[in-house]
Amino acid sequence: MIFENLDGLKIIYGDCIEVLKDPQFNSSIDLIYADPPFQKNTNYSLLKDDIYGRREYDDIWKGGSVSNVTNYFKSFLSLCKANLKETGAIIIHLNEVLVHYIKVEMDKEFGINNFLNHIIWCYSGGGAGKNRFANKHDDILIYAKNKNQFQFNPQYLPYKNPNGKHMNGTPLRKEGKLMEDWWTDIKPVHFQAKNKRHPTQKPIKLIERLINACSKEEDIVLDPYMGSGSTLEAARNGNRKGIGIEYQLNLCEIASKALHLSKYQIENYPLSIQDCKKLNEENPFEFHKLVLRKIKSKPMKQSQDRGIDGILEPFDALKHNGLTSKRAGVQVKFSNANPSTVRDFASALTHKKLTQGILICGGSTSTQVREAINKAYETQSLKIIYEDWKRILPERKPKEGEEFIKRKKSEDKIIKSMEYTENKFTSLDCFTNGSKNQ
Ligand SMILES: C[S@@+](CC[C@H](N)C(=O)[O-])C[C@H]1O[C@@H](n2cnc3c(N)ncnc32)[C@H](O)[C@@H]1O
Repeated sequence: MIFENLDGLKIIYGDCIEVLKDPQFNSSIDLIYADPPFQKNTNYSLLKDDIYGRREYDDIWKGGSVSNVTNYFKSFLSLCKANLKETGAIIIHLNEVLVHYIKVEMDKEFGINNFLNHIIWCYSGGGAGKNRFANKHDDILIYAKNKNQFQFNPQYLPYKNPNGKHMNGTPLRKEGKLMEDWWTDIKPVHFQAKNKRHPTQKPIKLIERLINACSKEEDIVLDPYMGSGSTLEAARNGNRKGIGIEYQLNLCEIASKALHLSKYQIENYPLSIQDCKKLNEENPFEFHKLVLRKIKSKPMKQSQDRGIDGILEPFDALKHNGLTSKRAGVQVKFSNANPSTVRDFASALTHKKLTQGILICGGSTSTQVREAINKAYETQSLKIIYEDWKRILPERKPKEGEEFIKRKKSEDKIIKSMEYTENKFTSLDCFTNGSKNQ
């Protein structure tokens, strides 16, 4: 499956540790570029500004414990090694805090003889403290799987004085100056850059240079921590094939959009009701975020939701369902609602000083639920509309020739009646104050 029709790029939604265990990968990758999720701070969940809200990361760097990091890396590196071709290489993008520990692990896994480079990528800009020298570089380690079989492609920089000569009088190389292991010519992605898609996004030019040096055209480049898809973009620019693994579904969507791929081609993307169920079982937070994204609602921070999962900012379509253009609170529940779900949601809305909300659950409303919605309106002046996530989530029917969406007939029926439109609310069949509102 993974390599089937891999004539360009592929995005896989999932945890790389699990995905890399797939025997299909065995000895089939030419180059791995990994930019693992480490912040310099002790808690990786500090990663912020995720477009759709924060995710509490599986914290590899738990409580700042180095042994957690090295243990994680032991298994990660051994999977990478097993999946590389004998001629392959691995590049790990690190920071000053961890590079020494990871270098030791890489020496153990790949052998010190297969060490190729420790690149120092220097940059400037951003903040600088006064209590130590400002840290303005990243550390990038490169190892071959087997140095004797690996082919390095030297990279060149233009000479400062192209008419000069070498110190020993020999003429300069026509290709340019052979590149060294410290780089100062690549700027980081500015936080306001137009193409900024990820808080720790790496510059395409940097990854291109690494890929060009360590692989050849048509090779397969794998990025197990894909983020916003920079490696895939760099791979495509260099006529390589690219596979990116990412465990945040929204980043898979963001990367697929940036790379002009169809999100329906993301491997493991939840396209059917069954898939959505599986997603909820494995990662309920991802399920919630997926529903919220579909209705264009901003998620609350996971730790602060207290019964409100997202906020829907004013937009006209709300009015179609009897709501005003004020902000509305959203709650997502995988299972069916009962009257106490409505009561809890009503008190969460009141707590947040919201007067209207959308309750998204699994299944249609019962008379008791409708009564509870009515009561919330009569006693607390709260407007609550109800929707079944099965009418929001599963993706549109495949167009002709799109065979990758497999759905049961019963699911198709529901979806048929709810063809996805950009502004889904105009066609939602919701209950407002107990009365059916078309
Ligand atoms: C430092 S960022 C990579 C940024 C990327 N190089 C770019 O330029 O956009 C690390 C990424 O790894 C993802 N990640 C963390 N742990 C993961 C795992 N176990 N499996 C897959 N992705 C993971 C995070 O969601 C995050 O997007």
